[in-house]
Amino acid sequence: MIIRKSSREIEKMAAAGALVAETIAHVGGLLHPGVTTEELDDAAGAFIRERGGIPTSKDYKGYPKAICISPNDVVVHGIPGGFEVGDGDLVTIDVGVTLDGYIADSAYTFGVGDIDDRDQRLLDVAQEALAAGIAEAVVGNSVGDVSHAIQEVVEAGGFAVVRSLVGHGVGRYYHEDPHIPNFGEPGRGPRLSEGLTIAIEPMITAGSPEVLVEDDGWTIRTADGSMSAHFEHTVAITEEGPRVLTPRVGVPGGVNV
Ligand code: MF3
Ligand code: CO
Repeated sequence: MIIRKSSREIEKMAAAGALVAETIAHVGGLLHPGVTTEELDDAAGAFIRERGGIPTSKDYKGYPKAICISPNDVVVHGIPGGFEVGDGDLVTIDVGVTLDGYIADSAYTFGVGDIDDRDQRLLDVAQEALAAGIAEAVVGNSVGDVSHAIQEVVEAGGFAVVRSLVGHGVGRYYHEDPHIPNFGEPGRGPRLSEGLTIAIEPMITAGSPEVLVEDDGWTIRTADGSMSAHFEHTVAITEEGPRVLTPRVGVPGGVNV
C-alpha cells in the first residue's frame, strides 16, 4: 500500500532530512585514516540524539548500530565495528533519522584521501545516476521512468546496477511501498502522484553486479570484491516537481546528488 503524505507531513520529513544531511556531513568530517567505523557510529548516534532525533536503523529488524557504514566492496548494511578506515577507501555513510514520528533516509559515499581515478568515476557516475532518477520523479511519470533513467546513466558510464537491492517509499515507516528499482522500463510500474515520498538510491558496482550477504545477516558485499558506491536521497513528489528532503550540506558535489 502506497501512503501519500500531506504537506504538513512532508515538512516533518524535511526536518528529519535536514538532520540526516547534517549527520552525514558530521561523519564525513571525522573520516580519516585510522578511525574505526564503530567510532564513527558512536559519533553519529550521539549527534542525532543530541538534536532530538532517533537513529532509525538502530534495532530496525534487529540491526545493532545507529547507522550503516559500508567500505569499499561492501554495498550496503555494513555494521560499524573494528574496521579502520584507510587512505583510498570508499566509505558509504547511510543514515535514517526519525524526528517527530517522521523518517528521512539518505546515503553518501565518501572517497578518503587519495582515491583511484576509476573509483572517482564510480562516485561521479553514481551521483549522476541519482540526479537523473530524481529528475524523473515528477507527477504523471511512473516508477519505471525513475528506474530506467538511473540504469541508463550507470551502464553508459561502464558500471553495473545491483538488482537485488532497491529504493523504497519512506515516511512514517522506514520502508514503505513502492519499491524503486535501479533498472527498468520507462512507463512501467506504479504512477507517481502528488504526496508520494520515496528514497531513490542507486547502488552500483565497478565489476559484477552480483552481491552476497555475510554470515552476520546484514553486510552485503560484491560477489567479486569489486568496489561499490551508493547515493540516496529522500524525495517528495510535488506539483512543483521533485523536492529533495535530504539536501546535502558540507560534502563534495551538489545538494541534490
Ligand atoms: N538506510 C537503509 C536504506 O537505505 C536501511 C538500513 S536498514 C538497517 O534503506 F537496518 F540496516 F539499518
Ligand atoms: Co533507503
